[in-house]
Amino acid sequence: MNSEGVFNKLMRQHDMIREVTKGTQAFLETIKTSANEGDFIELIGKLEHLRFLLLDHSGFEEAVLIPVLKKMYHPQEELAHYVKDEHIVLDKDLKALIQIVKDHVEQKKGELDREDFFKIRNYLQQTVTHLVEEEVSLFPMLKVISGQI
Ligand SMILES: [Fe+2]
Ligand SMILES: [Fe+2]
Repeated sequence: MNSEGVFNKLMRQHDMIREVTKGTQAFLETIKTSANEGDFIELIGKLEHLRFLLLDHSGFEEAVLIPVLKKMYHPQEELAHYVKDEHIVLDKDLKALIQIVKDHVEQKKGELDREDFFKIRNYLQQTVTHLVEEEVSLFPMLKVISGQI
């Protein structure tokens, strides 16, 4: 795949993640005061779908971007680690949130705790921020390096 193809794929993945994240954000708001088990199961499904997309994207992003960062004239070792570390944290946090909702269903606790609701809401917002940050800083820089601009 040439560098244009790589960036197009990265952007397509970002758009897909953004769409699923926004859909999940909207759904979360609708179940804020719900005690319905079916709603929580649907939320788990949406979060798991998001996790699948994020893992797929992170793997591709690391495979194509980290070697470029390491090959730079001043190797961007720190940035390479940063890209990866951020993905690890994003996945770890999402895994923990899915578990919280699963436990909630198992314990038949009624409405989601406020604190858990806000944790999920913040996570989704943070995911959108992660995408935007890469698009405005990391991607353009790498496009210059890989000779696309
Ligand atoms: Fe990323
Ligand atoms: Fe990304």
